[in-house]
Amino acid sequence: MDSSAAPVYDRIGATYTARRTADPRWEREIHSALGAAQTVINVGAGTGSYEPRDRNVLAVEPSGTMIGQRPPGSAPVVRAYAEDLPVGDDEFDAALAVLTVHHWSDHVRGLEELRRVSRRQVVLAFDAEVAASFWLCDYIPEIGAFDLGRAPSMHLLSHVLHTDDVRPLLVPSDMRDGVLAANWQRPHAYLDPAVRACASGLAQLDQSIVDTGIERLRRDLADGTWGRRYGHLRNLTTFDGGYRLVVAHRV
Ligand SMILES: C[S@@+](CC[C@H](N)C(=O)[O-])C[C@H]1O[C@@H](n2cnc3c(N)ncnc32)[C@H](O)[C@@H]1O
Repeated sequence: MDSSAAPVYDRIGATYTARRTADPRWEREIHSALGAAQTVINVGAGTGSYEPRDRNVLAVEPSGTMIGQRPPGSAPVVRAYAEDLPVGDDEFDAALAVLTVHHWSDHVRGLEELRRVSRRQVVLAFDAEVAASFWLCDYIPEIGAFDLGRAPSMHLLSHVLHTDDVRPLLVPSDMRDGVLAANWQRPHAYLDPAVRACASGLAQLDQSIVDTGIERLRRDLADGTWGRRYGHLRNLTTFDGGYRLVVAHRV
């Protein structure tokens, strides 16, 4: 963790709430995984997506840009990093970390912090091996390489959290939260820079690389190549983009 550097989301998070709102189906799964927990620490809380409103929540978030977009009435928030949570041992029934672990500079230390402060841990992460097989990576292979370099493996997550409870969260065809694979069945969406800006795997890459891949996508959509290669996806209602809900209980 380099707390002297500006948090990445101060740079890429300015329009987060425009397209990154909780998907109700994922929200149900996440809240159900929290079980009976009444006190929850939401680490890497961002603008508050997926944060339960009916429990006692403390949000932890390093980026002032993200904190500034939390809606009025949101849970209290402290500006801190997962790797060094400013709370005592066992203070919470559950710790929640949604789509944030791949941003942490020290995955193991952050995950151990979740275990130190809570009896139950609910972590939404992604399996970078599965995510790299998403068709957009055929156009921009650098996304897959970038994600493989920054995301903890599922093995590491399970090992550090002492659990084998790993639940796939499939992406519905009308996904509301603009994660990278949200538009798996709406390929034209990726031609829109605003759609690309809200997925960190695209926003953090060299934009000339992204632009080159997007131009190829634009051509393939126009001449029917995309449809011939990936048109079979139109028959599906959900897609495995690699998202995984890891649920653990500390004994
Ligand atoms: C993709 S956003 C997810 C935000 C929110 N959990 C959600 O689901 O919308 C990732 C968040 O992790 C935060 N983050 C990055 N590094 C972190 C760290 N070391 N500790 C805690 N949060 C971090 C970012 O500032 C950002 O708000």
